[in-house]
Amino acid sequence: MKMVFPDGFLWGGAVAANQIEGAWNQGGKGVSTADLQPWGIDGEIAVRPGTNGNLKDIAIDFYHRYPQDIKLFAEMGFTILRTSIAWARIYPNGDETEPNEEGLAFYDRLFDEMAQYGIQPLITLSHYEMPFGLVKKYDGWSSRQVIDLFERYARTVFTRYRHKVKYWLTFNEINMALHAPFTGAGLMGERSKQEIYQALHHQLVASARAVKACHDIIEEAKIGCMLLGAVRYPISCKPEDLLQAQQENREWLFFGDVQARGEYPAWIARYFRENGITLRVTPQDREDLKETVDFISFSYYMSSCAAARPDLYQRGHGTLLKMIPNPFLSASEWGWQIDPKGLRFLLNELYDRYRKPLFIVENGIGAKDVPELNGSIEDDYRIHYLHAHLLEVREAIEDGVELLGYTCWGPIDLVSAGTGQMSKRYGFIYVDRDDGGNGSLRRQRKKSFYWYRDVIHSNGATLSEPI
Ligand code: BG6
Repeated sequence: MKMVFPDGFLWGGAVAANQIEGAWNQGGKGVSTADLQPWGIDGEIAVRPGTNGNLKDIAIDFYHRYPQDIKLFAEMGFTILRTSIAWARIYPNGDETEPNEEGLAFYDRLFDEMAQYGIQPLITLSHYEMPFGLVKKYDGWSSRQVIDLFERYARTVFTRYRHKVKYWLTFNEINMALHAPFTGAGLMGERSKQEIYQALHHQLVASARAVKACHDIIEEAKIGCMLLGAVRYPISCKPEDLLQAQQENREWLFFGDVQARGEYPAWIARYFRENGITLRVTPQDREDLKETVDFISFSYYMSSCAAARPDLYQRGHGTLLKMIPNPFLSASEWGWQIDPKGLRFLLNELYDRYRKPLFIVENGIGAKDVPELNGSIEDDYRIHYLHAHLLEVREAIEDGVELLGYTCWGPIDLVSAGTGQMSKRYGFIYVDRDDGGNGSLRRQRKKSFYWYRDVIHSNGATLSEPI
């Protein structure tokens, strides 16, 4: 039996406020950007919230049902649960001077419930949403003022939950704003690279300021960045393809470079020059950026290929990324290519590059679950995916990678961020709700529930057994 998961390794799952909570207009919450994306990141922006068949309006009603869900997570043995705070629950328009007490009280109740079972929170400050008020009044992150407003929000929650939350993340998949500027940075309409990188510069400064605030307020806290691990392999060993893959990997690693090393990497100057980008960066910004994260977290679902020939690229299914499929890999129903070894590769790359602890905060497979005649859900495909990935995680730990924990994506079915669907399910727990919003919202354990429970209870030892 191979037992290489270290003692105290954190096991759990990851969700995001706007994909599970619902109650979009309850408890004094303001409208968030996510409330205006009923068709997911990929779809158009709705004119009004709450009237567009947006499944996120109710989502899985976690806002009201969290005690039963936490109990189920505890049954699987979770020691950590990643979720996010909806910024618009705390500052409904984003620029109030005083926070909304009802919003703060909700997360107090949630964290207290988790504590009863010994489940630690890992909290993302901004997971693909911000108060829509900041978009209307400040044009989202294009305004420097939003840095101060974000810092105020971050300081509020650090202070309030300083005895309850030890692990924090700043922005979810910060690199995705390059492809989804509204979701990532609150920028509406077509935007130039100049505008997007300027907004992202503000976000990077805000992230560093939050890191500093966290260190000031909660002595024992650890705060990380969060990257979408968009691993690219060269499609061939042609040197041109290798250079193209390096460039595409750098596009997302750029964000890790700034957040982990405290300054812009050397190569970006040329990229900015050749793309007509001139950033407004103050001396104080440069100082602020020096406050670096304690660990690097990332999501990993798939890998893809890069080539010097632009005509080989195609738009990935259910993702905004343009990529070249890898002929050696199979794919999920949504076309996301399955590559467990890519996760080992990524863990090693990130650890070599940053020499900081890593945290896998999203991994999983979106699939349609069809209940059997007796009502059970035999999701062997999910077990196979996760099992294969965890074996590679174990290899990476043996390679010497320092890994704090693993929170797979969507331990309970939730609304897809990309497509706004319910039917793209990731969970160990089935939620009775369909893409039309019909269903009782009843929770049910799938076959994978018991499999994950055994993995956690054995600290990974059962991974050595055949499935
Ligand atoms: C990540 C996001 O990109 O992938 C999550 O952080 C998202 O919010 C997850 O849900 C899976 O993507 P999708 O489109 O299948 O929901």
